[in-house]
Amino acid sequence: MSSATRWEKAADAYATGEHKSGRELQLVVDFAAPMGGERVLDIGTGAGHTALALAPHASSVVLTDPVPAMLATARRVLGEVGVRNAEFVEAVAERLPFQDASFDIVATRLAAHHFDDVALAFREVARVLRPGGVFIFVDTLAPEDSESAAYQDEVERLRDPTHRHIYTQREWIAFAEAAGLRIAKLEVVRKAHDFEPWLERGGEDAATQERVRARFLDAPASAVRDLEIVVADGGVKSFTDRKLVLAARR
Ligand SMILES: C[S@@+](CC[C@H](N)C(=O)[O-])C[C@H]1O[C@@H](n2cnc3c(N)ncnc32)[C@H](O)[C@@H]1O
Repeated sequence: MSSATRWEKAADAYATGEHKSGRELQLVVDFAAPMGGERVLDIGTGAGHTALALAPHASSVVLTDPVPAMLATARRVLGEVGVRNAEFVEAVAERLPFQDASFDIVATRLAAHHFDDVALAFREVARVLRPGGVFIFVDTLAPEDSESAAYQDEVERLRDPTHRHIYTQREWIAFAEAAGLRIAKLEVVRKAHDFEPWLERGGEDAATQERVRARFLDAPASAVRDLEIVVADGGVKSFTDRKLVLAARR
């Protein structure tokens, strides 16, 4: 299945699933602290939940995503609740079609582990932010233990081949700093995932889903510990990962 077709299938699942909520989404608004007049850019917007959280507190929000079906879903989600200050632009994070210093706030939530080139994407963020503007970054953290980190990438990619790589806290921060951004705030939050809906959102066929289940039942002890894998009655019930929330100033 092509990557675009996969995302088209995923668009509805993102609109209604666990991406709608979470402590890390509240922190996006808290860390951005918009006063009402800001121009906001959301990168890898998916079904638009991050842009939706920021839109009432900003002058305008531009939602970007490379997948037209995601932008269509985001347009519907924001339209349903009457958001009028939003614009929708097809773009990859690595090549943002905006002028230098054109935004006060740039956000990206749970998308960077899909980027082909995180370093280039972060340089683009720094370019389109005005001096003093703020970058709000949210994504999954790799455990420090190399065995469980490798396991996490393996099962995430098996479940969804558009997954690229999950970095450690030190590595995500290094990408931001290398792009010339200064870390201003940081928080790590735990996020629990009901296993079967998480697996279903990946959109793979039944045989691949079965391989993911088997791999969870066979997880190394380090991953059971770091990802808090819960098994009951012979089936995987849930796992819990960690999300890094950063505010970084240009
Ligand atoms: C899990 S969804 C994002 C969720 C959304 N940000 C939210 O807060 O609900 C990941 C998104 O990243 C997008 N994506 C994948 N590769 C990308 C890239 N290179 N640049 C920007 N977005 C990308 C996908 O199309 C998808 O919509």
